[in-house]
Amino acid sequence: MAMQTTFAMLKPGVLQRRIVGEVLSRFERKGLNIVGLKVMTIPPVLATAHYAEHRGKSFYDGLIGYITSGPVVAMAIEGDDAIQLVRRMCGPTAVCESLPGTIRGDYCLHTNLNIIHSSDSAESAARELKLFFQPNEIVSWEDGNKNWY
Ligand SMILES: Nc1ncnc2c1ncn2[C@@H]1O[C@H](COP(=O)(O)OP(=O)(O)OP(=O)(O)O)[C@@H](O)[C@H]1O
Ligand SMILES: [Mg+2]
Repeated sequence: MAMQTTFAMLKPGVLQRRIVGEVLSRFERKGLNIVGLKVMTIPPVLATAHYAEHRGKSFYDGLIGYITSGPVVAMAIEGDDAIQLVRRMCGPTAVCESLPGTIRGDYCLHTNLNIIHSSDSAESAARELKLFFQPNEIVSWEDGNKNWY
């Protein structure tokens, strides 16, 4: 297992629904470390850089509109195999395939409003962390509970 840091983001609407704490506590309970956290509104230039791979797709304009429509919560999450683990905790892209117990399975009804983003590879994680966080906004820490998770 490799220690990794991944990027995740609670999309617009999660703050308004007041479920930020519930979602964050899933990552905490799992034993992952939240090492970066901020509320922000994504400027259009950041939205297009973040989702550059989807440019030209049918859902692209809606996706950029949604992601810039309100404040988001950007997160850096650290732990063993954190990239794949956080993806699995979020659930598949299509909400109808996201099982109960996953974040998308439990909190959303529509794929285009699927409430959470997470990096899909080591390359994406490195790129996205750099887009959203300054180096000094990511703080690693030890809680001494490593042996219990
Ligand atoms: N077929 C689709 N219809 C509507 N929206 C879609 C569709 N496919 C993807 N999206 C939207 O675009 C986002 C990015 O798609 P992607 O294929 O990267 O899925 P993902 O990696 O699971 O999601 P994200 O990148 O947001 O974590 C999805 O989260 C979803 O909001
Ligand atoms: Mg993606």
